[in-house]
Amino acid sequence: MLEDKAYTLISSEARKHDPSGMLLHVIHTPHSVLESTRRYREEAESLLRFDFSRLSGVVVSGMGGSFISGLFLYDLIADKTDKPLVLNRDAKLPKFIDKNYLLVTVSYSGNTEETLRVYSEGLKRGIPIVAVTSGGKMAEISEKKGVPLLRLPPGIPPRAAFPHITSALTSVLSLVTGIDAVSWLEEAARELQSRLEGAFSEGAALARLLHEDVAKGLVPLVYGYSPYTSPAYRFKTQLNENSKVHAFFGELPEGNHNEIMGWSGPLANFSVIFLRGREEPEYMRARIEFLEELLSSKGVPYYNLYGEGGGRAGELLSLVFKADVASVALALLRGVDPTPVDIISRLKTHLESRVGLTFLREAER
Ligand code: PA5
Repeated sequence: MLEDKAYTLISSEARKHDPSGMLLHVIHTPHSVLESTRRYREEAESLLRFDFSRLSGVVVSGMGGSFISGLFLYDLIADKTDKPLVLNRDAKLPKFIDKNYLLVTVSYSGNTEETLRVYSEGLKRGIPIVAVTSGGKMAEISEKKGVPLLRLPPGIPPRAAFPHITSALTSVLSLVTGIDAVSWLEEAARELQSRLEGAFSEGAALARLLHEDVAKGLVPLVYGYSPYTSPAYRFKTQLNENSKVHAFFGELPEGNHNEIMGWSGPLANFSVIFLRGREEPEYMRARIEFLEELLSSKGVPYYNLYGEGGGRAGELLSLVFKADVASVALALLRGVDPTPVDIISRLKTHLESRVGLTFLREAER
């Protein structure tokens, strides 16, 4: 089993740097997806009693590790549904969101200030809400007020709860849009399960290349394009939180209209990763070809990471998996524990005393 040899496939020292088992969370991705889709499909059906045909659209609001599943769902279904899917990574809601929208607030801890502000604003404005959380204030208030709640399993780092959060969101969005995205996700998980070791080895191999680049002072820069934006953005955030390195995300084709000029300047110490898939249009291939030539001519290392699987969900899930493996493996090769995010925790403690959650008083009544 992969679980037994995963650490040794990275290095002989890897296991000792991962006391909380972040790598195991990643390896369990397909299993966790399958376990959660079964559960949340039923829960969502019994909890959500709206007339979905009357909804104008859906807003998914969350931060960090709790946000990324919204972007994944956007990649998966936004071009296939007539219901607008609005992604909100802010502490407030746009004005046009009214009672005809469904607001899905996602916070693993249930205590993230920005998401709680949106949650309480939604309650105040009478917008129907579904809360996705493992506990905290969001669960407490939802239970008190009868807000539908999809509860996440406890004791997981928020970003490692990606399979569970994605399954919960997919269940909600399948109901709202009438698209059976849950079945796509289940199929994607089964496909990933069947080629887990190969995908793992690809992620680990990329980590070794990035390890050399980072040691030379190069900063990872991950490029994505629709419909593969979410794994690219996920990769950047996982490199930040797991590997504890700066990493940046760029979106194509937009980056070709501005960022591309940076390659002619002095601050070009990057190592580039393109995340790609079979739906890559010819117009995008032409742009990436140009970039590859440009990077080669400047001596900038670049790598291509491809999605695998029969459909878009499979490609997306396999890309997220390979990126997750690469970020954790890079941490372990650097001798860094991927789990703690001490600066984020310190910021949250600072905000608790500096800003607090007094804005929740009304919601708590
Ligand atoms: O992965 C992490 O730990 C962070 O990105 C968190 O997800 C982020 O700080 C938001 O917290 P929460 O997911 O609990 O709402």
